[in-house]
Amino acid sequence: MSKATVREIRFGVIGCGLMGREFASAAGRWCHLVDLDFAPRIVAACDTDSAATGWFERNVPTVRLVTADYRRLLDDPQIDAVYCAVPHNLHERIYGDVIRAGKGLLGEKPFGIDLAANRAICGALGEHPDVLVRCSSQFPFFPGAYKIGQWVREGRFGRIIEVEAGFWHSSDLNPDKPINWKRLIAVNGEYGCMGDLGMHVLHLPLRFGWKPRSVRGLLSNVMRERPEGAGRKVPCQTWDNAILACEAAAGGETFPMVLSTKRIAPGHANTWFLNIYGTQLSARFSTRNPKRLAWLPYRAGGEQVWHEIDVPYESAYPAITGGIFEFGFSDAILQMWAAFCDELARGRDMHQPLTCATPEETAASHEVFTAALESQRTGKTIALS
Ligand SMILES: NC(=O)c1ccc[n+]([C@@H]2O[C@H](COP(=O)([O-])OP(=O)(O)OC[C@H]3O[C@@H](n4cnc5c(N)ncnc54)[C@H](O)[C@@H]3O)[C@@H](O)[C@H]2O)c1
Repeated sequence: MSKATVREIRFGVIGCGLMGREFASAAGRWCHLVDLDFAPRIVAACDTDSAATGWFERNVPTVRLVTADYRRLLDDPQIDAVYCAVPHNLHERIYGDVIRAGKGLLGEKPFGIDLAANRAICGALGEHPDVLVRCSSQFPFFPGAYKIGQWVREGRFGRIIEVEAGFWHSSDLNPDKPINWKRLIAVNGEYGCMGDLGMHVLHLPLRFGWKPRSVRGLLSNVMRERPEGAGRKVPCQTWDNAILACEAAAGGETFPMVLSTKRIAPGHANTWFLNIYGTQLSARFSTRNPKRLAWLPYRAGGEQVWHEIDVPYESAYPAITGGIFEFGFSDAILQMWAAFCDELARGRDMHQPLTCATPEETAASHEVFTAALESQRTGKTIALS
C-alpha cells in the first residue's frame, strides 16, 4: 500500500492511563498489519495527570497538543476521532461531549457508570446519528474466539443447549492489595465487577442475538475492606464476583446462559472464556490457554469426540506475524483498533465483519447488570424486555 493511498485518522486520547497507553502502543506498531488502507495517528493527549500525558510526550512523537482540558481537544477541527479511557463516573459527561462535538468515539466500557448514564450517552448519539460510536472489546479478536464467531454466523451449532461466558481475575484474593478507583462505588459504579468486566462477557452473546430474557444475579462482596496508600483499612463496597443465570433464546428455543464476572477466581489472571454447547457443534475457547480451540461436531448416532488444535496466528486483519507464533492481549488490542479504524474509514464496507461493541449492545449490557442488582436485592429472577 503506497503512503498516498492510506487514509490517516487523526486521534485525540482522553485518559492517558493504562488503556490510553495500550492504544498508543497499538498505533505505534501499525506496520504490524498488512496492507491496510487506513491508519490512526495520535495527535493529541489529554489527562488531568501530567505524569500520564508526559508518557505520551516522551513516547508518541506525533502528539502536537497536550492538555488537561478535554474541551480543547474537542474544539480542534484537525482531530477526527477520540479514544476515551477515563474512570466510569466521567463517561457520561465526556462521551456525551465527544459525540456532540461530532468526533468519532471509541469509548471504554461500561459506557456510563449506570443505566441512566448509558441512556444519556445513547441519547446524545440519537441527536448525532452520523457519528461513529463504539465501545472497546478486544477479546473476540483472539483467533479462537473469532473462529467461534464465524461458526455461529454459519449456523453450525444446531439448537443451542447452553452457553457459558465469563471473565475472571484473582489478584483481589490478596487482602493487602490497596484500594483503587475500580473498587469505589462513586467512581467505578454500583455494578462493581459487572461494570468492569461484564461488557467483555456480553459482547459476543449479544452480537449473536442472545440477549438475556431474564436474569438471576448472585453477587458477592468477599473483601469488605482494603488498605489505603498509608496502610489504613477503608471500606471496599463494590461487588467482587457476579454469577448471572440468564435465559436466552435462539431459533425460537430458549436455553440457559451463565455469565460470570469475577475479581476473585483463585488462580485466574485475565481469563476470558466462551463455551457454546449445541446439538450439532460445541466449542470452547479461553484466554487461559490462548492458542487452544476445542470443538465437538456431532451427527445423530455418531461419536462424541472433542477435537483440540493450537489455533494458528490467523487474525481478523492479517499481520506480519507468522502463523506458527502465539497471539496475545496486545495483539487483540491491535486487531480491535483495526476494526474501529476500518469502520471509521470504510463504513459498512469493512475488510471483515466483526465490529467493536455497539452502543445498543452497551445499552443491553446495562439492562442486564441493572436487573442483576435488583435480583440480588430481591432474591428474584428479573424479566428483561
Ligand atoms: N478494554 C480493556 O481491557 C480495559 C482494561 C482496563 C480498563 N478498561 C477501561 O478503561 C477505562 C480507563 O481505565 P484505565 O485502567 O485505563 O484507568 P487508569 O486509571 O489507568 O487511567 C485513567 C486515566 O484517566 C485520567 N483522568 C481522570 N480524570 C480525567 C479527566 N477529567 N480528563 C482527562 N483524563 C482524566 C486519569 O488521570 C488516568 O490517567 C475504564 O473505563 C476502564 O473500565 C478497559
